[in-house]
Amino acid sequence: MKLLSKEPTLHPTAVVEKSQLGIWTEISAHTYLSDSSLGDYSYVMEYNQIVNSTIGKFCSVASFVRLNPSNHPLNRPTSHHFTYRAAMFGFGDDDEEIFAWRKSNPVTMGHDVWIGHNATVMPGVRIGNGAAIGSSAVVTRNVDPYTIVAGVPAKVIRPRFSDHIAEKLEAMQWWNWSHETLRERLPDFRKSAEEFVEKYCGEQ
Ligand SMILES: CC(C)(COP(=O)(O)OP(=O)(O)OC[C@H]1O[C@@H](n2cnc3c(N)ncnc32)[C@H](O)[C@@H]1OP(=O)(O)O)[C@@H](O)C(=O)NCCC(=O)NCCS
Repeated sequence: MKLLSKEPTLHPTAVVEKSQLGIWTEISAHTYLSDSSLGDYSYVMEYNQIVNSTIGKFCSVASFVRLNPSNHPLNRPTSHHFTYRAAMFGFGDDDEEIFAWRKSNPVTMGHDVWIGHNATVMPGVRIGNGAAIGSSAVVTRNVDPYTIVAGVPAKVIRPRFSDHIAEKLEAMQWWNWSHETLRERLPDFRKSAEEFVEKYCGEQ
């Protein structure tokens, strides 16, 4: 049986650079994560490329997901990277302006976000707490909290919960509860969101 721990669990083929990983996190095989952060309890499945992204707590990222695929400059005579990765071609200095532009467009995900298989989230997109992204979606616009989107480009399929339940869950911030509290309250996490909110509304 696989047992995770406070120390992040990394598959030997995963590559993690310049990133922060929270407790109880997991990165699966052949995933590349760079200039990003992964909140507590979040996990990333196989063959992901995640760059310049902030991922909240308790997020589930399926396989073959791309978060923040870099854009190339389209206003130059060529979109090819020799104009900015010049050094590796022996053309002189790299063009830092392009890298700064990319840096200024991070992908930001809240807590309890589920990203379906093969989805792509474009630069600069913000995804709210509790949202779900369907398989193979291309997300080009911000996604509201507790909203399910899918398709190319991604459009709203339906809200995950009523506004009342979504607001209560967001206000409750259960994702900040301690490990012990989560263990204790696990039976309630297996009930409906309505019952959960009814029981814990008002608690921190
Ligand atoms: C997006 C998703 C969560 C929606 O689930 P749902 O709310 O139960 O939606 P439904 O199955 O009732 O479908 C509602 C509509 O959305 C469409 N739809 C559902 N998933 C879609 C997707 N990924 N892309 C495009 N359209 C999709 C359906 O065709 C349906 O359209 P219609 O009303 O015109 O018939 C689910 O379909 C999905 O993509 N899950 C991701 C699974 C996955 O990748 N898992 C990886 C392992 S973690």
